[in-house]
Amino acid sequence: MGYVGHRGSIEVLLGGLKRLEYRGYDSAGVAVLTPDGGLGSAKRAGKLGNLTDELSAHPIADGQTGIGHTRWATHGGPTDGNAHPHLGDGGKLALIHNGIIENFSELKAELTERGHTFASETDSEVAALLVGEAYRDTHDLTAAMLAVVNRLEGAFTLLAVHADEPDVVVGARRNSPLVVGLGEGENFLGSDVAAFVAYTKQAMEIGQDQLVTIRPGSVEVVDFDGNPVESRRFEVDWDASAAEKGGWSSFMAKEISEEPDAVANTIRGRVTDGLVHIPELDGLGDDVLRSIDRVLIIACGTAAYAGMVGKYAIEQWARVPVDVELAHEFRYREPVLSPNTLVVSISQSGETMDTLMAVKYAREQGARTLSICNTQGATIPRESDAVVYTHAGPEVAVASTKAFVAQITACYLFGLQLAQVRETLAADAVRALVADLQKVPDQLRDVIASGERIAELAHWMADTRSVLFLGRHVGYPIALEGALKLKELAYIHAEGFAAGELKHGPIALIEPGQIVFVIVPSPRDERSLHAKVVSNIQEIRARGARVIAIAEAGDVAVLPHADEVIRIPLASPFFEPLLAVVPLHFFGMELAAAKGLDVDQPRNLAKSVTVE
Ligand code: AGP
Repeated sequence: MGYVGHRGSIEVLLGGLKRLEYRGYDSAGVAVLTPDGGLGSAKRAGKLGNLTDELSAHPIADGQTGIGHTRWATHGGPTDGNAHPHLGDGGKLALIHNGIIENFSELKAELTERGHTFASETDSEVAALLVGEAYRDTHDLTAAMLAVVNRLEGAFTLLAVHADEPDVVVGARRNSPLVVGLGEGENFLGSDVAAFVAYTKQAMEIGQDQLVTIRPGSVEVVDFDGNPVESRRFEVDWDASAAEKGGWSSFMAKEISEEPDAVANTIRGRVTDGLVHIPELDGLGDDVLRSIDRVLIIACGTAAYAGMVGKYAIEQWARVPVDVELAHEFRYREPVLSPNTLVVSISQSGETMDTLMAVKYAREQGARTLSICNTQGATIPRESDAVVYTHAGPEVAVASTKAFVAQITACYLFGLQLAQVRETLAADAVRALVADLQKVPDQLRDVIASGERIAELAHWMADTRSVLFLGRHVGYPIALEGALKLKELAYIHAEGFAAGELKHGPIALIEPGQIVFVIVPSPRDERSLHAKVVSNIQEIRARGARVIAIAEAGDVAVLPHADEVIRIPLASPFFEPLLAVVPLHFFGMELAAAKGLDVDQPRNLAKSVTVE
């Protein structure tokens, strides 16, 4: 957040950060231009309250220009030193950053050669030092920011202030959000309108690769070549009370809408020349990846279902045996592990005690451990030999959605890199799969855009007592996930089955009117799973089931046998789970809403289960 105007900036910034806290809350900080022509800043790890306490204990002389940041750590753990703002130009410049600067290592090496030292482990500090350097040449903050943004790769929203420009805040964005709040004799910047909606509902969009300079009486926008651009103004159509959800009806609705970015940001920085290179795996090394003779994925709940999808992919591509185990069962069966076993934990929070204890057990037994986690610096990554972070951003709703698709994406990337290192897939085959995976974010956007039919179905089924889910191959874990969402959100008995298992008992459950969702495999998949699942549908339809089929565009064979068909875009069959799960996330959320239940905080649950 940024502010220039006639109010004391600290109060404005802290109030805005409070409403932005849902975006990430592992540390926070502010920098303000003080009346004596200096720059004051404070930052603290932990919740925003820690920063407020710090400012009470050590007040900063307030001014009318400032920036503030609440962090969701990506590079460098949640510590005071890694919190933003970061300083440059000898402490006269302060900068805050959202996103991931992919080429920060080479920029950091350059700065080091020029004698700079670093107070943090972050990629963001590199930008602060570069803008500070540029300012010494330009003596103009806008020009300094312009000089630097053209050197950065990845995703960033940057805001900066400089003591020599008392009523200016400069912002720039690429692949990360930034919006302007337009006031009377004051102007605001924010990651979203929640930052300033308490002061103004007049807003202005900042487009990709654009830079904005705000002063109390002016807002100037240029592209990264310095050319002025026209920006769309709009009026915020909701009030501050909905601010903490960014205007969404629930965090879950907001987080489903972020699933495309969660996938895109988890891929970002991990594809080079069309092949996968996950930098964090360098810590394990190719020799270790080649020596693995078994992969054991351990997780709980939705994270375990992500692992099950990953199992099919990793085993298919890397030709190494993969098993998925529930963490709480794993260590009590005294599994046989060896240094060539790679235990991969999957956890959004990185604090799930069942999973943490399983990881500790695995290490004691001599296995190597890899964490797939969405929370920088959490306990499970710290207990693991290596970590592949998902970049889904903070997931606040208890029901996991965007983290789930990010976890599956991380499994795919890991499986492809393993296949490259073990040479079980030709480079061209990997490039083709990577290219298909990179299409998924846009395909997800298409699926999300067609969510309203699911809402109608959910409201029509609001009083149902039981729903079954069928899936096959990579669709089977999605059936389990669909059932879990209904249990945890709408408190309805629901069960997921492997479609082939139905005839071995569960088909006895089918009676007239029984609602069954079926995730239909792609008809393009040569293993004839599609035909088998269509047969399953006929078997249950013959016994009176009401079938809602989730099928890819163009699949006409399913039409005569389903009461309802929810379409997903054509994708590589392996990646269809990422798309097929979205209607099921919507269904769980809409059914809970139709029943008047708390979508974000369902009864009896917690976001992270830190007890065994
Ligand atoms: C999923 O919607 C649930 N919130 C739950 O199953 C969750 O996935 C599980 O508790 C694991 O949590 P973690 O990913 O933080 O370890």
